[in-house]
Amino acid sequence: MSVSVLVGSQWGDEGKGKIVDILGDRFDIVARYQGGANAGHTIVIEEQQFILHLIPSGILRDGIDCVIGNGVVIDPKALLEEIHFLENHGFKVKGRLFISHNAHLIMPYHKVIDSINESGDNKVGTTGRGIGPCYIDKYDRKGIRIIDLLDKVELEKKIRRNVDEKNKIIKNVYNKEELDVEIILKEYLSYNEEITQYITDVPAFLDKAIKDGKSVLMEGAQGALLDVDHGTYPFVTSSSPTSGGACIGVGVPPTKISSVFGIVKAYTTRVGLGPFPTELLGDEGEALRKWGAEFGATTGRPRRCGWFDAFLLNYSRMINGIERVAITKLDVLSNLDEIKVCIAYELNGKRLESFPTTVSQLERIVPIYQTLPGWKTDITSIRKYEDLPVETKNYLSFISEHSGFEISIISVGPKRSQTIEL
Ligand code: IMP
Repeated sequence: MSVSVLVGSQWGDEGKGKIVDILGDRFDIVARYQGGANAGHTIVIEEQQFILHLIPSGILRDGIDCVIGNGVVIDPKALLEEIHFLENHGFKVKGRLFISHNAHLIMPYHKVIDSINESGDNKVGTTGRGIGPCYIDKYDRKGIRIIDLLDKVELEKKIRRNVDEKNKIIKNVYNKEELDVEIILKEYLSYNEEITQYITDVPAFLDKAIKDGKSVLMEGAQGALLDVDHGTYPFVTSSSPTSGGACIGVGVPPTKISSVFGIVKAYTTRVGLGPFPTELLGDEGEALRKWGAEFGATTGRPRRCGWFDAFLLNYSRMINGIERVAITKLDVLSNLDEIKVCIAYELNGKRLESFPTTVSQLERIVPIYQTLPGWKTDITSIRKYEDLPVETKNYLSFISEHSGFEISIISVGPKRSQTIEL
């Protein structure tokens, strides 16, 4: 029996989809604990690419059950599209997907409000999927949950009440067009037919599974630095991607967790707005973006790219309790003559002891770099650690020592097979 948590350790897009897929055969159940269709997990099997937004990538492996926890906010349309896509590609979903009755639903007004917020001065660069407004309603105790789909009479009352309230704001505060409640009702009252079969009491389901000796991987979306509490607020998502979010997001108690595994990209990327101390502007950043195909899996937006930040990783390791990591996209660095790694931050000429999470400080810090030689060799077909060039091994030892974690998986390409295990 083991219960592990898998977290993105930077600003998301670390390659969690591939690593969950690789680790998947060691677990009986993969459970997603937060976020929504803002995430995009890319997995390449043989020559085929799959991008999943809501369902854990464990669904692509036979024999693994997948859970969507209460901490996830679910866009029912996106969910059904994903289920149909998987079924059309020959993957069995029925009987293998379990959705928490307490998960909240993304409603059309959440997306409208997300887009209105993003058109103003306080924009964050969200994915536009309605994530923040849905979590606001959840914490404001006005949310509509998956379980509400089962009672059509109550569901209709809740939708009418909410749409009425949101329309007042949309019309009177933002001066935008009101939503048609009848269209929303027609859509949402129809969802129970297909979604009901997946609704599960997830804490009880996982409790039984753990008692039966099954192993569970709790999968976060986004990354630790996008955490609403521990990230670079306000340029964060509205949930808790850090490992602590796993207990709340699926209902498994902390006493059951045996390990926390981090996913770390061999350099740094960020989508959307917000501070990014090691960002490479200009040609170097452009080159990394091109070599790493750094475009958002959900929105297609170009990702901002920069050097590896060991100071940030140390912070991430600390707040998540990460012991071991998978390093992803190492092959992307193969064209570089030299590679820089940020090992410390200076503010006003003084080295900082801890990671600052206020934007004003992060915008003023000076990253302190150490430069390492590149390896200038294609490493995409290497399958054993011993066969990696000495410069690659040195780079890995350097980032692992300065970030304080142990590396146990190295990814040298997008395919399942392009993986080195230590
Ligand atoms: P939201 O989650 O759509 O509200 O967006 C808030 C911030 O999180 C924005 O900067 C997004 O670009 C970022 N974000 C959300 N989901 C992801 C993800 O899966 N990968 C990387 N960044 C993300």
